Amino acid sequence: MENSLECTSPSLSRRKLLNFLTGAALATTAGAALYPVAKVFVPPVEKTGVGGAVRAKDKLGNPIPASQILIEPPGTRALVAGIAAQPTYLTLQNDGTLSDRGIVDDCTHLGCTFPWNEQAQEFQCPCHGSRYAPDGTVVRGPAGLPLKLVRVKVEGDRIWITPWMETDPRTGERPWWV
Ligand code: FES
Repeated sequence: MENSLECTSPSLSRRKLLNFLTGAALATTAGAALYPVAKVFVPPVEKTGVGGAVRAKDKLGNPIPASQILIEPPGTRALVAGIAAQPTYLTLQNDGTLSDRGIVDDCTHLGCTFPWNEQAQEFQCPCHGSRYAPDGTVVRGPAGLPLKLVRVKVEGDRIWITPWMETDPRTGERPWWV
């Protein structure tokens, strides 16, 4: 009986080879064309330091040298991009150093960002009027929880920001964000 599925025909093998080469060429071309498009939608993975530490950055994503902030007067609240690019306030202390506590600019009521009011010495949320003391505790609602803290460390000219996982010094309890 004649075997109709015989694949040893030279023309069939050549066709298979051509199909394979064409498919491989198309896949390579499509991959090369789509790679830049895919990169736009996939955020770059940020290199982190010990304990998930990230460098404090400016709004363009460039690391901010500590010396750039440390020349500001005591009491300055410097807004930087912190963990996951969250806006974070760093505080210049009277001795000219940075406080080891950063305050995340994310209102615990409904997540608005807020400015530091120098005159009132409060963070004041413009959305529904919540107010926070300099350490981030609630002065006036509707917010019910203190502002999230992060740990700030200066090493040389680098500012590192690390998640705050230990006891919240304002409440003496486990932080609500852990
Ligand atoms: S979001 Fe800040 S008070 Fe409502």
